[in-house]
Amino acid sequence: MLKDKIHIIIAQALEELNLPSDKLAISPPNNENFGDYATNIALQLAKSEKKNPMVLAQHIVDAIKTGDVIEKAEVMNPGFINIHIGKNKLIENLSQIAINKIEIPQVNSGKKIIVEYSNPNIAKPFTVGHLRSTIIGDTIANLFESTGATIYRDNHLGDWGTQFGKLIYAIKEWGNEEEIKGAENPVKILVELYVKFHTEAEKNPDLEIEGRKWFKKLEDGDEEVRRLWKQSIEWSWTEFDRLYKQLGIKTEDFENNGRGYGESYFEDKMDPIIKELKDKKILQESKGAWLVFFPDEKFPPMMLVKQDGATLYATRDLATDKFRLNKYGKDVIIINEVGAEQSLYFQQLYEVEKMAGWVTDGQRIHIKHGMFRFKDSKMSTRKGNTIWLEDVLEEAIKRAHEIAMEVGIKEQGDISMIKSSHIIGGESKREEVTYKIAIGALKWNDLKRSAHMDIVFDWDELLNMQGNSGPYVQYTYVRCKSVLGKADNPVIPDPDRESREINEEELSLIRSLSKYPETILESTQNFAPNYLCLYLYDLSQKYNLFYQKHKILKAEDDEIIQMRLTITKAVANVLSHGLTLLGIETVEKM
Ligand code: ARG
Repeated sequence: MLKDKIHIIIAQALEELNLPSDKLAISPPNNENFGDYATNIALQLAKSEKKNPMVLAQHIVDAIKTGDVIEKAEVMNPGFINIHIGKNKLIENLSQIAINKIEIPQVNSGKKIIVEYSNPNIAKPFTVGHLRSTIIGDTIANLFESTGATIYRDNHLGDWGTQFGKLIYAIKEWGNEEEIKGAENPVKILVELYVKFHTEAEKNPDLEIEGRKWFKKLEDGDEEVRRLWKQSIEWSWTEFDRLYKQLGIKTEDFENNGRGYGESYFEDKMDPIIKELKDKKILQESKGAWLVFFPDEKFPPMMLVKQDGATLYATRDLATDKFRLNKYGKDVIIINEVGAEQSLYFQQLYEVEKMAGWVTDGQRIHIKHGMFRFKDSKMSTRKGNTIWLEDVLEEAIKRAHEIAMEVGIKEQGDISMIKSSHIIGGESKREEVTYKIAIGALKWNDLKRSAHMDIVFDWDELLNMQGNSGPYVQYTYVRCKSVLGKADNPVIPDPDRESREINEEELSLIRSLSKYPETILESTQNFAPNYLCLYLYDLSQKYNLFYQKHKILKAEDDEIIQMRLTITKAVANVLSHGLTLLGIETVEKM
C-alpha cells in the first residue's frame, strides 16, 4: 500500500532528526491540489521540541528522502507537510490495478471473528430490520475476510421461547395443517394465528396459561408438539431460503450446515451456565427468580431465570457465547449485527460475560442499525406495522424494471435495441439484470450511511440514476465495460509509460485509485461499509466527469488511448471488487 510506504519514509526522516514518530499520521488533504497526503506532525511536535512549527516542518521536509515514491514534500502554513507521490509511481500502481492486482493489506490475519447477522424469527415476518442486519452483517464479514481474518458467519435464529407454546396452541385450536401446508406462504398464516392468539388472550387471560403449558410440553419433548414446532421451522426456512437467494446471500456460508446456531440449539446448554453464574455469585435470587444485579446499578438488573423456572432470550445468548468461546477459541471476537433498539440489552449481556471472566474489552461488539421509516404510506400502514421484506423486494423489482427501460432509451436511443441486447440470454436475462439492479439499490441504500442511523426509505432516492445510489455505481461499471468492449486493441497497461502530461481528471482518478486499499482498511476497522460506498461513489463521479470531458477511444494518439483505457480498466476492476465486498452484483449491460 502506497500510504504505508510514505509513512515509513517520513518516519525515517523523523528518526534521523531524533524526533518521535509514534504520533505520525498521514491522510489525504482536503484539497487535491495540495498533494496526495498531508501530515500535521510538525504542529504536534512543535511544543515539546520548543520549535516554531514552520521551522520544524522545514527540517522534516529537508530530511525526507525524495525519489520514486515521494516526488515532492513541502511546508504549508501553519506547519503542515504536503506530500506528492511521483507520477511514475502512481502509473505503476494504476497498471497493477488494471491487471486486477488489487492488494489489500492482510492486517487482520490470525484473527478469528464470528459475525452473527440476519437472525430472523421462526413463524414471524422476515422484517426490514432483519434485512438491514443481513445486508450490513454480510458486508462486515466480507470486509474482515478481505483483510485476512478467519470468519465464521452465524445466524442466531429465533426458534425457541414461550411464543412457540402460544403458536402451537393456536395451530391446534384454530389452524388447519393441511391448509397451511398448501398455502403459498405458510408463514403468513402462522403469523395470523399468532396474532389471533394475542387478540383472544386479551379477552381471555387464561390463554396465557395455556401458552405456557404448551411450551412446557415442547420443552419436555412431547412428540406431537415437537413435530409441529419442527414443521414450523421448515415452513419458515422455505421462506428464508427464497429470500436469501433473492438477496444473493449464500446460506452455505452460515455455520451449522447453512442454518446457523439458532436459539433452540442451546436449549440443553443453559443449566451449566446458570450454575456457573450462581457459583460465581453473579446470579442472585429475588422473589424466586434469578437475576444479575450490576455493580453500582450500572445497568438495570438482567433476568436469567423466571419464577417458574423458565429461561429467557438472555439465558440462551449467554449459552451461545460460552459455546462459541469453547468451539472457536477463547480469543475469538464476536460481533452481533442487531438493531439499535437492543443496545441496552447487549451492554448488559457483554457486562455479564466480562463479570464471568469469559471475555475482555473489545472482544464483544454490537454493530447497531437504525430503524426504517417509509415515506410511502402504502408501506407504513400495514397492519401490525411490520413490513414484510417480500413486499419491499417486489416493489423494488417493479421500479428497477422501469429504470432499466429508461436507461436503455437514454443511452442507446432506441428501446428495441436495449430490449434485444438483454435478450441475448432471452427474457430471463433481462429479468436477471432488473433483479440485480433492484437488490443493488436496496443494499446500497442501506450501506451508504452510518449503520446506526435511521433510514427514511424513499424509492426515488433508492433508484436515482444521477445520485448516490446502487444503480448509479452499477451503471458506471457498465459504462467502463462498454468503452472497453468497443476498443479495437486490447488494453496493455504499461507501468513504465512515460509520464506525459496527465490531465486533471486523469490525475484525480489515478490518485483516487491508489487509495482503494486504505479505504478498505478504514471501512473494516471502523465497521463502516459507508466509507467504501462513499469512495466508490466518488470514483464513479470522477470517472463520469472524465468520460464527459475527454475522448477515450478517439483520443489524439495511441499512447493517450492506451492510458485512458488503462484507467477505464482499473476503474472497472475497483468498482467490481468494491461492489462484491458490499454484496452487490455487477451487470454487464443495463
Ligand atoms: N431474533 C432476534 C430478533 O429478531 C435477534 C437476535 C439477535 N442476536 C442475538 N444474539 N440476540 O429480534
